Amino acid sequence: MRTTTDFQKMKQEHDKIVMLTAYDFPSAKLAEQAGVDVILVGDSLGMVVLGYDSTVSVTMEDMVHHGKAVKRGAIDTHIIVDMPFMSYHLSIKDTLLNGTRLIQETGANAVKVEGADEVVAHIKALTRAGIPVCAHLGLTPQSVGVLGGYKVQGKSAAAANKLIEDAKKCEEAGAFMLVLECVPKQLAKAISQSLSIPTIGIGAGAETDGQVLVYHDILMYGVERLPKFAKQYTNLNVEIQKGIEHYISEVKQKSFPSDPHSFMMKEEEMLGLYG
Ligand code: KIV
Ligand code: NA
Repeated sequence: MRTTTDFQKMKQEHDKIVMLTAYDFPSAKLAEQAGVDVILVGDSLGMVVLGYDSTVSVTMEDMVHHGKAVKRGAIDTHIIVDMPFMSYHLSIKDTLLNGTRLIQETGANAVKVEGADEVVAHIKALTRAGIPVCAHLGLTPQSVGVLGGYKVQGKSAAAANKLIEDAKKCEEAGAFMLVLECVPKQLAKAISQSLSIPTIGIGAGAETDGQVLVYHDILMYGVERLPKFAKQYTNLNVEIQKGIEHYISEVKQKSFPSDPHSFMMKEEEMLGLYG
């Protein structure tokens, strides 16, 4: 399993870090078998597998439940679990209790939090207490209401400079990694060069130290439309739909189950069956 030191080394050696989300046992198992460097139990699970409108509905219970399943499927992969909406804001004590719960109950390696400003003190407290923290800047979906939608961040010089400062503050507070979501590629490059910790981009161009995408997006699994930054590598929707339709038609036509999928009684027992 990769450690935070390994991720640091990968940045120095320009070895791209590949992160993928996973939300349950089978997705985690397949991500590990394929060889991803790190799995993120993203609170995007609220939208992707629970059908909510945003990540704001996701609770600590949801993250613990899914985090446990992911760990069971990927025991040898570094796992980061998102701290959900409002679980790292109320007080440092609440943050530490929630961070502890996520690490202890799921067996994950680290947590992820969105934002800088007031959140910086919480990154510092978690790190000092021994919980590794991945920061997340740019488009921070838990703040979608305040941001006024899912929009690219840091497009003006002023906004870009604020993001560079925020990134430095996250690093100084002890974050071991930084996710940059939906920022211009030039800005993502500048931030990646100015930090010593690795940056992981999503909609942030190719010059971050790694990339992250959502499992169901790259596989086109249960999603209808992809954001501009995501890429479809296969289409499970088509395969799954075909498989289910084939099952329905075989049952209707009575061609399933045939003998190879049925259990048999011995002839002599058959005699007794009808008395
Ligand atoms: O929840 C999530 O999947 C994320 C990634 C998109 C970075 O936070
Ligand atoms: Na998230």
